[in-house]
Amino acid sequence: MNKSQEPIQRSHSPMDLTNCKMKVAIVYASVSGNTKELAEELYQILLTKSVHLSIYSIEEFSLADLCQYNAVAIGTYTWGNGEIPKEMRRLYQAFESLNRKEITTAVFGTGDSFYPMFCGAVDQFRDMLYVHTNLAATLKVELRPQEQDFHRCDKFAEALLLRASMGIPVS
Ligand SMILES: Cc1cc2nc3c(=O)[nH]c(=O)nc-3n(C[C@H](O)[C@H](O)[C@H](O)COP(=O)(O)O)c2cc1C
Repeated sequence: MNKSQEPIQRSHSPMDLTNCKMKVAIVYASVSGNTKELAEELYQILLTKSVHLSIYSIEEFSLADLCQYNAVAIGTYTWGNGEIPKEMRRLYQAFESLNRKEITTAVFGTGDSFYPMFCGAVDQFRDMLYVHTNLAATLKVELRPQEQDFHRCDKFAEALLLRASMGIPVS
């Protein structure tokens, strides 16, 4: 067999081996549209990857479906004094009580650096998700996403998918 006839070697991720696409959900809360815009930017990026992708506002999302996903990207604005918005607390509590290290997560959000706790809700989610899930990445954006944020969005999406394809971390 000469060089050109050799079989092509391909590397497979665990997902390829099971021949099914990774299931990814984006779940976000937004009042004035900034976080929704960021969620939609991430959706557009993830659409170009080979994943089964869904996007939900928190009001549309059923907590009962949480364990169906290999990866969940959570988007939140920050309220009060660095607080998680009321509508996002049930998602926070669900991840906390499920304690599923096999779900890869990432958290993104918009905030206003005028406030002392910039994107405090992202920090609170990050600390909990690090303990109770397989946390891959965080992303904080000042109010509406701008052009300089798009590269950061790419990196965030890449980190989420890479971590999810690696499987459950050894603790
Ligand atoms: C009453 C109030 C409190 C806020 N508190 C914070 C805060 O503590 N930290 C922060 O980074 N942003 C804070 N913000 C800013 C919002 O998080 C920011 O405008 C965000 O982009 C809104 O997201 P949305 O457009 O998706 O609703 C506050 C805004 C309001 C109106």
